[in-house]
Amino acid sequence: CGIVGHLGCQNTKGILLNGLAELEYRGYDSAGIAVLNNKDRHIFKAVGKLENLKEKTTQLSLNEFSVGIGHTRWATHGKPTEENAHPHYGSDTYIVHNGIIENYQELKTVLQKDGFTFVSQTDTEVFVHLFEKYQKNHTNNYDAFKSALSEIEGAYAILLITDSDPETIYFAKKGSPLILGLKGDEKYFASSDAALLGQCSDVHFFEDGEFGYVTRNEVHIESVTEKQIKFQNAKLPSDKLSAQKEGYRFFMEKEIYEQADVLADTLRGRVLDTGIEFDELDENLFDGISEIKLCACGTSYHAALTSSYLFERLAKIKSSVEIASEFRYKEPLLTKDTLFLAISQSGETADTLEALKMAKQAGLKTLSICNVDNSSIVRLSDASILTRAGIEKGVASTKAFATQVAVLWMLSLYVAQFKKSLDTKELQNELHTLREVPNVTVIKDAIHEKTKRLAKRYLHGHGFFFIGRDVFYPLALEGALKLKEISYLHAEGYPAGEMKHGPIALADPELFTIALLSENLLFEKTKSNMEELGARDSTICCVSSYMYDKADDFIVLPKCNHYMLEFYEMMTATQLLAMEIAIKLENDVDMPRNLAKSVTVE
Ligand code: G6P
Repeated sequence: CGIVGHLGCQNTKGILLNGLAELEYRGYDSAGIAVLNNKDRHIFKAVGKLENLKEKTTQLSLNEFSVGIGHTRWATHGKPTEENAHPHYGSDTYIVHNGIIENYQELKTVLQKDGFTFVSQTDTEVFVHLFEKYQKNHTNNYDAFKSALSEIEGAYAILLITDSDPETIYFAKKGSPLILGLKGDEKYFASSDAALLGQCSDVHFFEDGEFGYVTRNEVHIESVTEKQIKFQNAKLPSDKLSAQKEGYRFFMEKEIYEQADVLADTLRGRVLDTGIEFDELDENLFDGISEIKLCACGTSYHAALTSSYLFERLAKIKSSVEIASEFRYKEPLLTKDTLFLAISQSGETADTLEALKMAKQAGLKTLSICNVDNSSIVRLSDASILTRAGIEKGVASTKAFATQVAVLWMLSLYVAQFKKSLDTKELQNELHTLREVPNVTVIKDAIHEKTKRLAKRYLHGHGFFFIGRDVFYPLALEGALKLKEISYLHAEGYPAGEMKHGPIALADPELFTIALLSENLLFEKTKSNMEELGARDSTICCVSSYMYDKADDFIVLPKCNHYMLEFYEMMTATQLLAMEIAIKLENDVDMPRNLAKSVTVE
């Protein structure tokens, strides 16, 4: 989900809609805005893409001073309908909210007994009624807002406006990101800086537990422990970095093609002749560390899994990988000789953020690998490394994954340097190979064309296996995830050697196996796993530089002499294949159904 707010004399409608457009990829089940302008109030909501909301608001013209709030939703509680779209409202109060109010059911029951009527199935609506309930027995709205806040549990970023106070926006933040920007007397709110770029450059990133209000002339921030908190005055870049498609059919396609360039940025200044250098890391970071625990969700989890092979193979350091939502509740045993490494494109994924908080509480050193500077995960970690992928708009992550793997590979070499686990020749070979990565990720026309041709036939069939061994196993998981995210076809990734223990029961000619066959790593082993599947009549597409004569189809890759270069070649090939299949199916590749770019709820 994404939220925006504006208070001032500039074009409130335009600011809200443009801000939502920047955040739309974070949720697009529905969108809405509420604006107070003089004595008038306006509320608009629409199901589906932001375009639908824009159409509804064409007649709205505002003059002079206005306050407004807006929201783009990824449904958590209640279906994506207009009633469930934000802003939610009571008799004269409007609210937008990211997060989850966990005790909403109890609060709702009490409020219903008190006579409040609910029109939505959302958790958010309770806050409006709570506020209006407290308005009756408080002399001012701010006290009512604080009382309402004290009753809710869970995670939230909230903006609230009310007719009885039409020049104020009330706000609160806990667990979900929220930023306030200032420019002269104009005030801007957003859940991500993407919506603020180009509007204002002086900002405050709210910390958990902060709340307050803004008016024409005042900014008041406090928390339960501090009565007056100073505006941070952090700086955003003044230019608008908003990503455009630049002639590509989809952002995903542009981002696949961009990978060679962004990977070069990722490596810049970090791969030296003598070894790996991270200016952002303190030399002592790995002192006393004998294990790395990697934690992430979705595609970032696959990057983590890939690196667990590299940390152990190259740096000879124990490494384990956790899915953040599992880690949080498994009562993990944490010891201080473990470095906790959070990986997240957005830096806002609620599960990863909460896992990081747990690790900090347990006294572990924490490091994050993120794509978004100033994100919650970056600000909370002891140290962080930015992936430098640039804004990623496609919901199906591509270039973020490519850069995460590169940073993690570099990090494993960085640790190897300390631990002296590689000799000079081995280290030099790794550095040389890393420098080759941008070259091998340049998209070759022949490969893209081949995926288009395959896509025509691969629409049919009842499912896909992606198989690989070693680092090609996480890549198989990622290939299957890409395909299912945007094509809605059933696809699963497996370790090639595990097929015989169950999944092979599914094999038949309508089941397509995408086999990631490396010539540099476990070649014979993977080939015999493919043979087992071929013998059961599965249709096999071999993604390899080797022409395996028993395959039905091929995506032939250029030969190279290191398995990580093959990894990157296969990565782009499987990304393109997923995209072309989704295009043939006429799906919205950039905004696939039911998904959101950044999931800031548990
Ligand atoms: C969402 C996105 C995925 C992403 C995952 C983790 O589910 O749709 O593409 O991999 O969140 O996001 P993060 O920003 O933490 O990497």
